[in-house]
Amino acid sequence: MDPERVKAFMASAKAWKEMVGSRHEEAAQFHEVAKALYTPDDLQFQVHLRAIEIHRRVIKHGSLHAHMDTVRAEQIRGWMWPIELQMLAYLAAGMRSICEIGSAFGRSTRALGDHVAKPNGRVYAIDSWAGAGHFSSITNEVNGEDDFNVFKVNLQDLIDAGTVIPIRMKSKEAAEKLKGSQYDMVFIDGDHSYAACRSDIKLFGPMLGSGSLLVGHDYYQLGVFRAVKEEIGNVDGVWGRLWWVRM
Ligand SMILES: C[S@@+](CC[C@H](N)C(=O)[O-])C[C@H]1O[C@@H](n2cnc3c(N)ncnc32)[C@H](O)[C@@H]1O
Repeated sequence: MDPERVKAFMASAKAWKEMVGSRHEEAAQFHEVAKALYTPDDLQFQVHLRAIEIHRRVIKHGSLHAHMDTVRAEQIRGWMWPIELQMLAYLAAGMRSICEIGSAFGRSTRALGDHVAKPNGRVYAIDSWAGAGHFSSITNEVNGEDDFNVFKVNLQDLIDAGTVIPIRMKSKEAAEKLKGSQYDMVFIDGDHSYAACRSDIKLFGPMLGSGSLLVGHDYYQLGVFRAVKEEIGNVDGVWGRLWWVRM
């Protein structure tokens, strides 16, 4: 990478770092501007720098001193960056019950399932597996059946052990079915539109008891950001594009 580009990265990473802190709205605007200035890989690099910087500051409930083993998760196609899988695994470690909304091919599900309490921990993996255009950036599949089969192959051992329980439904239907359930952690990574994300927070948030964790992905997508801001307010932690709040 040429030195001028590196200088630009460092300057923008510094600006990003200063803007994040408690000023999430500006950070979201910065993200929009940055998207126009940099290629997606550049943007990833900036956020990565920022993630390293917030390592000590942001995590309120312990430090990420242990390296989480996310090798198997990283082998599965999906949207989450390795540093985000590590944090997800860290947050999930030892939990007894997790509900995930938006599993796709199982990249995040694998990080959760590999780290829940054994042998009794459970990950309820909700996805409509309906096949949709939003997969097209990383796969050629448009058929939901194929997607679901790929998920099942990727998680076969954990499904057989009863650790991962796939629930093939839209999140609204699933919330109806699971009404009254209580989880240690809910992870939201389904439909990222404002209305849908807000609805997922409203439907699944009440399934969390005191001390449990509500976690989500793609904090800097504006629909998600607005939904989180309105339903939750300030979050407790941000890492890459992961956000979380302790109830
Ligand atoms: C961004 S992907 C999830 C990525 C995944 N967590 C990973 O680590 O790769 C979003 C997923 O949400 C699912 N989805 C979208 N809207 C949904 C809804 N209303 N109910 C259930 N699943 C939904 C899609 O089928 C898709 O698999």
